[in-house]
Amino acid sequence: MDVMTAIKGRRSVRSYLPKEVEPEKLKAVLEAARLAPSARNLQNWKFIAVTDKNTIRRLTEACNNQTFVGEAPVFIAACALKDYGNMGCGIPRHIVDVSIAMTHMILEAYEQGLGTCWIGSFQQDKVKEILNIPEEAVVVAVTPLGYPAKETPPRPRKSFEEVVSFESF
Ligand SMILES: Cc1cc2nc3c(=O)[nH]c(=O)nc-3n(C[C@H](O)[C@H](O)[C@H](O)COP(=O)(O)O)c2cc1C
Repeated sequence: MDVMTAIKGRRSVRSYLPKEVEPEKLKAVLEAARLAPSARNLQNWKFIAVTDKNTIRRLTEACNNQTFVGEAPVFIAACALKDYGNMGCGIPRHIVDVSIAMTHMILEAYEQGLGTCWIGSFQQDKVKEILNIPEEAVVVAVTPLGYPAKETPPRPRKSFEEVVSFESF
């Protein structure tokens, strides 16, 4: 699959089959995160994959009871190990780094025939407690991972002209 096919075909999946994810597919998804670029190549991250059903149930509650999260057989938390401050541009490097890695995972999951949904609505403290994440680390994003139960239609996007300009704003 080429990159643009994955970019165009990926959806936020909010309904999952109970079917298990093959270990090699899960490994490919996590490997895509490991290979992501990062500021200063710090690789200041940890990706936690959870398959224990009871833990996933508790994590689903921590995702403000977005029940579809608990339908998937795998839950992934993408964490920054610590806040390494801002880049020269004033943007926090750890958030950017982990977001890129998360995007890698989501696209690789699509290539593997798996669905994901970037979840930003979760309780930081609860997820950290459930997964024994150290105080100084931060959970940047989480996602369920599993086989989609149905096709998801594409969400609309602004037009190319609206979001792109050339030479100046
Ligand atoms: C940073 C971020 C946070 C998001 N948080 C949630 C969330 O908590 N729950 C949810 O159902 N979807 C969440 N989404 C998914 C968006 O709603 C979704 O990407 C958007 O509606 C476009 O749909 P698509 O991903 O299918 O193209 C999030 C997406 C991003 C990028």
